[in-house]
Amino acid sequence: MIDNPNLLFAVVFISFLVAVVVMGAIGAVVARIVSSFFEKNVPTDAAMKAFETAQAAALNSPQKAMMITPQAEPFVIAGVGFIVVFILTSIFVTPTSIKSETVAPPVAKVAGLAISGDFTKIIADLPKGNADNGTKLYNSGGCVGCHSLEKDKRLVGPSFYGAFVRAATRKPNVGAKEYTYESIVSPNAFVVDGYQSGLMPPTFAKTLSAQDMADLLAWFERDHNQQ
Ligand code: HEC
Repeated sequence: MIDNPNLLFAVVFISFLVAVVVMGAIGAVVARIVSSFFEKNVPTDAAMKAFETAQAAALNSPQKAMMITPQAEPFVIAGVGFIVVFILTSIFVTPTSIKSETVAPPVAKVAGLAISGDFTKIIADLPKGNADNGTKLYNSGGCVGCHSLEKDKRLVGPSFYGAFVRAATRKPNVGAKEYTYESIVSPNAFVVDGYQSGLMPPTFAKTLSAQDMADLLAWFERDHNQQ
């Protein structure tokens, strides 16, 4: 939800400050209530005597029980109250962004392009392409290893220079976009003269998203239409 790490840090930090202030206020109120209660109940000498006897007995016992003097009780209660309030605040003040990130990890990008059918319709249903992103996909998708951008430069596959113009002429009655789409999703449907089939990976239909395909087609149309 909050992607900017500085902003996330600020939110966590401010939540923490708020938590400290709230806990301090609640702790002060609790301490006041508890101490006013004990002021009215200051232990009598007899009670103290009984307590000391009990403590001495406890210290001699095998368990060596820990005893809390009546005077220390308000502080113990306030301390326990502070810890309880601290735990509760840390649960409820945690920003929702952190919770949702730990509970629901980001869903992996689902790819899966149609490899057959009416390519004109399939292309029309793609999202709007961003030609600028085509260069990035050319590099990250590995096309760069087999397709040059220089005129007539042959790598494993043909150069992309002017590829969109040639695409319109490869198959009769098949448009440049349709041909390019099919060449990417099922490379062996048409093998360019002088090149070997089976070299271009047939996996792009699985690894490219509909947006990636739209971006590549926009890029071919804009940047590879040299005559
Ligand atoms: C391992 C090498 C290799 C990789 C990687 C590769 N290709 Fe190809 N590609 C080829 C070969 C070889 C051909 C020619 C044979 C054929 O038509 O299948 C070809 C043909 C093509 C054609 C048809 C070109 C024409 O002139 O008719 C297009 C379009 C194409 N590739 C796009 C891509 C795109 C986009 C990528 C990256 C997402 C890519 N290729 C990745 C080897 C590769």
